[in-house]
Amino acid sequence: MLSKSTPLKIVKKEKQADKTYLFRLEGSGKKKIKFDYKIGQFYQVSVPGIGEAPISVCSFSEDFLEFNIRGVGDVTDKLLELEVGDNIWIRGPYGTSYPLDKLKGNNIMIIGGGTGIAPLRGALKYLEMHRADFERVHIFFGCRSPEEVLFKKDMHHWDRIFDLNLTVDKAPANYKGKVGLVTKIVEESGLDNRNKVVLICGPPIMMKFVIKTLESMGFHYDQIFLSHERRMKCGVGMCGHCMISGIYVCKDGPVFRYDKILGMHE
Ligand SMILES: Cc1cc2nc3c(=O)[nH]c(=O)nc-3n(C[C@H](O)[C@H](O)[C@H](O)COP(=O)(O)OP(=O)(O)OC[C@H]3O[C@@H](n4cnc5c(N)ncnc54)[C@H](O)[C@@H]3O)c2cc1C
Ligand code: FES
Repeated sequence: MLSKSTPLKIVKKEKQADKTYLFRLEGSGKKKIKFDYKIGQFYQVSVPGIGEAPISVCSFSEDFLEFNIRGVGDVTDKLLELEVGDNIWIRGPYGTSYPLDKLKGNNIMIIGGGTGIAPLRGALKYLEMHRADFERVHIFFGCRSPEEVLFKKDMHHWDRIFDLNLTVDKAPANYKGKVGLVTKIVEESGLDNRNKVVLICGPPIMMKFVIKTLESMGFHYDQIFLSHERRMKCGVGMCGHCMISGIYVCKDGPVFRYDKILGMHE
């Protein structure tokens, strides 16, 4: 745990989509840092003098951290200006995780939308490393357009080793992939709820309709884990910024089993 903001060096920066980059960070001093985090947790990532933003880890390794960052405002835009060799300050990890170690023996469905695919990339890296512990892995990803599809290199790899279903909302006429909302490809899969656990991350509206679709397919709420996004300040349950219906999203979440937060309303 890095409880104080600590500088890490950018060792790789890769464009994923418009205003969206994948950063790989390692310890910046001589002493190697071993990272200890769980899938779905986030770090508070900062630029000195500007501020902090919670960003989910999208890798699974003790040697480095990867963050997929979309520039939407003061902190994230400034982070995107940094280059390989520059430092990024982080503290954490914070929050709850997708409890993958307790889900062994299940079929796993991974459903993501837009930048919500990022923490699920970490889950897929975990599942690949622990492949023998799980049954089938079904992936359903939705992005706005072919240009907005993140992690294209990983997608090719996941297509070979897992059951990958990718869709885009809109595409030019010559596009060869699936077009439509992510709920459509989930429904078309015809999967039932037997021996399955679902991990979801995406915009709130997408998660709402994915849950409705899963419900119509016979899934129970205790089979569904989702990650909630909320404006945060301290990240550790002190300031109350992230609170909804008495729940601290930073500390009690961001990952919740759906049946546990049925009373949580914005
Ligand atoms: C647990 C968690 C994990 C996250 N993981 C990632 C990630 O992996 N990659 C990534 O790019 N982003 C992620 N985010 C979102 C990221 O934290 C925000 O985009 C960032 O804090 C915005 O800060 P800013 O200073 O750049 O923008 P600001 O200048 O603060 O705001 C810019 C605009 O974005 C809106 N906004 C800011 N934060 C949020 C939010 N949390 N929800 C909805 N609207 C918001 C503001 O209202 C404003 O319109 C995550 C958020 C949470 C809570
Ligand atoms: S962000 Fe401060 S209490 Fe959650």
